[in-house]
Amino acid sequence: MRLVFIGPPGAGKGTQAKVICAKWGIPQISTGDMLRAAKAAGKLPDALVAAMAAGGLVPDESVIALIDERFEAPDCRPGFLLDGFPRTAPQAAALDDLLARRSLQLDAVIALDIQRDLLIERAVLRRTDKRTGQIYHLKYKPPPPGAELEHRLDDREDVVRNRVDTYERMTAELLPYYDKRGILKRIDGVGTVEEITGRILGALGEKAF
Ligand code: AP5
Repeated sequence: MRLVFIGPPGAGKGTQAKVICAKWGIPQISTGDMLRAAKAAGKLPDALVAAMAAGGLVPDESVIALIDERFEAPDCRPGFLLDGFPRTAPQAAALDDLLARRSLQLDAVIALDIQRDLLIERAVLRRTDKRTGQIYHLKYKPPPPGAELEHRLDDREDVVRNRVDTYERMTAELLPYYDKRGILKRIDGVGTVEEITGRILGALGEKAF
């Protein structure tokens, strides 16, 4: 199964990706996680750190190179779930090229739809456990005692608003691109985590578990 998750910041892409990837035994390839790991290792150029902190996008060529290299890893052979890539028209064209070179095709593009005020609340109150990578929410999924919580620098309200604007300006235009190819599945992203997983599996023709 080769999937793409598209959605604005806080839509629940990472949360749903973890469930779907565990079900199919495929890797979650999150360009956001890869960029944050590079930053933590001191390997992300200052200009890219600044772009992320402001809620903008890093240059297309940087993320395309990351994905090209990641596709070579053996765990991608049974499939993968791209979480947060592609985000621009040039990235979508590059993905087509990277897949064609490997004689691969996407099975589906899942777009999570959710209104702006809920996105802000979801992102601003998100906390991640540094040790496990588990995603929590101070209101909807409170972390257990002892979790080592991290608050992402780009989850401040003003930055989240910029990220939502960036999504609407740069990424939303990809939806008609995949719709024309007949592989776009639009999913209502409002509801419990389990309800949304059920909708995604239903759209993919799979039973909930
Ligand atoms: P990235 O890390 O990809 O962030 P994002 O797309 O903005 O998405 P988020 O991680 O904020 O949200 P999510 O949809 O995964 O939501 P989550 O499941 O965590 O990118 C960060 C930055 O990196 C970008 O701004 C850009 O600078 C750069 N970048 C990355 N990729 C790039 C690319 N391809 N090109 C250029 N630049 C790139 O959920 C959010 C919260 O809601 C959590 O607390 C969760 O517990 C809670 N929640 C989830 N589902 C529910 C539910 N159903 N009910 C209640 N709460 C819920």
